[in-house]
Amino acid sequence: MTPRPPRDLGTLLEALPYIREFHGKTVVVKYGGAAMTDPSLKEDFARDIVLLKYVGINPVVVHGGGPEITGYMERLGMDVRFVDGLRVSDAETVEVAKMVLVGKVNKDIVQRIGRHGQPAVGLSGDDGRLLRVSKQHSPGGADIGFVGKIDKVDVDVLNHIAQDYIPVIASVGADRDGQSYNVNADEVAGAVARAMGAYKVMFLTDVEGWLRDPADLDSVISEARADEVEAALTSIGGGMRPKLQSCLDAIHGGVSFAHIVDGRVPHSLLLELFTDAGIGTKIRASA
Ligand SMILES: Nc1ncnc2c1ncn2[C@@H]1O[C@H](COP(=O)(O)OP(=O)(O)OP(=O)(O)O)[C@@H](O)[C@H]1O
Ligand SMILES: [Mg+2]
Repeated sequence: MTPRPPRDLGTLLEALPYIREFHGKTVVVKYGGAAMTDPSLKEDFARDIVLLKYVGINPVVVHGGGPEITGYMERLGMDVRFVDGLRVSDAETVEVAKMVLVGKVNKDIVQRIGRHGQPAVGLSGDDGRLLRVSKQHSPGGADIGFVGKIDKVDVDVLNHIAQDYIPVIASVGADRDGQSYNVNADEVAGAVARAMGAYKVMFLTDVEGWLRDPADLDSVISEARADEVEAALTSIGGGMRPKLQSCLDAIHGGVSFAHIVDGRVPHSLLLELFTDAGIGTKIRASA
């Protein structure tokens, strides 16, 4: 009998076909939830992103930062209100959101990735005219202020930067007149993945994946086709709905796979990308 390789080497050998498959491809990662707040998970995330770059993948990070925005608003004595899960954003709220996301959250991520060995470059929707947005209302039709939907993505600047650096995108955009807007980071990730012709888009979140029954944590759907997601969409609530909608937008735009991954699990990105078992929910095109 041929001796088996030592366990550690086995992991590396298991990863090899995946490294080959993903080499030279773009993977857009929506960074959110616990992985963005827990100090040790933050470090794990930065290391994982750097590792992807080292093995020849082009990672692109998209982030929000809701809890930090809320924290600063409260410190400034501002009113924090949500309608249908969307932040009610008057001009002052958008100004604070932009300062916190672009000036603090984005730069923290850029620095952390840099410290782990790869240079990252921070961008917002304004840079290189990356995101053109316009006003949207809440699903119930309420006026929620400067909350934007994405009309146009120009990835020219991203394509240049991603050749050598890791782009880190803050989810704010502007309209034709230069007015800034909050934009849902899931939506930005899906739209950027589509516009870049990414191979995968991955959403790090605070649940194990898409649950058939949100009350039953054992009901993770590990694989689904786009038509199955589409059929279920209207019955899905909370933050999972924009996420699954963004998965669909990406897949319909030619992205091969969309993943919803548990960001509370250390190195969940690597587990999904480089192991046979994978984790979370994997969505593929219908045909
Ligand atoms: N069917 C479902 N399966 C899984 N989660 C669901 C489902 N329906 C609703 N949810 C909710 O969606 C949440 C995930 O979206 P949420 O917007 O809260 O997190 P996120 O997008 O990862 O983080 P952030 O919005 O801060 O960037 C889950 O924690 C869960 O409460
Ligand atoms: Mg969300």
